[in-house]
Amino acid sequence: MHPVFVGSVTAGLNDFLSARLFSQVVVLVDRNTERDCLPIIESALEAYSPKIISIPSGEIHKQIATCQIIWEKMLAYKLDRNALLINLGGGVIGDMGGFCASTFKRGIAFVQIPTTLLSMVDASVGGKLGIDFGEVKNSLGVFKDPDGVWIDPQFLVTLPPREIRSGFAEMMKHALIADRNQWKVYKSTPTNQFSDWNEKIEQSVNIKKQVVLNDPHEKSIRKILNFGHTIGHAIESMFLTTEDYLLHGEAIAIGMICEAYLSHKYSTLTQAELAEITAMINHHFSHRVIPESTFEHIIDFMSNDKKNQHGQILFALLENIGKATFDVAVSPADILESIAYYNHHKASI
Ligand SMILES: NC(=O)c1ccc[n+]([C@@H]2O[C@H](COP(=O)([O-])OP(=O)(O)OC[C@H]3O[C@@H](n4cnc5c(N)ncnc54)[C@H](O)[C@@H]3O)[C@@H](O)[C@H]2O)c1
Repeated sequence: MHPVFVGSVTAGLNDFLSARLFSQVVVLVDRNTERDCLPIIESALEAYSPKIISIPSGEIHKQIATCQIIWEKMLAYKLDRNALLINLGGGVIGDMGGFCASTFKRGIAFVQIPTTLLSMVDASVGGKLGIDFGEVKNSLGVFKDPDGVWIDPQFLVTLPPREIRSGFAEMMKHALIADRNQWKVYKSTPTNQFSDWNEKIEQSVNIKKQVVLNDPHEKSIRKILNFGHTIGHAIESMFLTTEDYLLHGEAIAIGMICEAYLSHKYSTLTQAELAEITAMINHHFSHRVIPESTFEHIIDFMSNDKKNQHGQILFALLENIGKATFDVAVSPADILESIAYYNHHKASI
């Protein structure tokens, strides 16, 4: 498992860069992280005269055309195999930058400096890299560990509240699959009253680290991290090119309600736990009715899910709050029933 540090990014980068002899240092940013985050690490990079690659922000750009721009810049800067790419941004920058670094000249070093809550607790850790292709989320990619991950909550100061909520969805997921006590804490503390993000981030990222450590290439237990993602990814993909697109965590929040419903139907999650999860998620995220006219399209998206086997759509489901199982085959009719359940439940706590 690659090193993950929580704390001051500048101190960490200073130590890392002075201990390794890179031929060149390049920073990948999007327009927002160029403005809000790059100034925070500039002093640590000064001595290395870094080149900057800046791309437009958003999931819609996590695609091959943007990779081509990044690779062209890498060639133009004449990067050799001893160069370093620093991915400074959210999950889009981390997933795509890592993918570009891993494939450029058969792989150069890269580090992740996550700047969104979502990428701090989830995307930056675990070595899954990739891009969306052919309308399917993350359909091209590789497993490759970064040389380091620095999580510094000071970046969250400029992050819009909607993005904080999006990240909180993945924190809820970690609690639901592996930490009942953490779920209780989230239930009793509104996110805007978290006094110590460092501690909450560290607890959440530790769950991811532990799961990945036991199964780095997602052959078994790592699949539980996909709770909420089978339906969530399909819904995210479906809305991606629309004006009212959903952020990743927002789509996963809907997916978690649907998949909690399936957990009750196919596993041992109780009716009371299902109601609790539905209410908690609906409390944090505004409700979005999924039109019935799109149901077939959603199933179509899921037929390309990476976890499928022998034509069956497989799910990570909850046995109870704090414990998950995986590889549960669910029928398309029940998947649609779960989306209908979501559509009809606008409860709040
Ligand atoms: N690799 C994995 O294991 C993994 C896990 C979960 C999610 N993901 C992926 O992560 C992506 C979502 O990541 P995300 O939610 O971070 O999205 P994102 O990278 O698009 O960032 C969200 C927005 O916040 C802006 N931003 C980032 N940091 C900022 C800051 N500090 N201040 C102000 N604005 C800032 C960005 O410019 C962007 O507009 C999805 O593509 C998802 O598939 C990957």
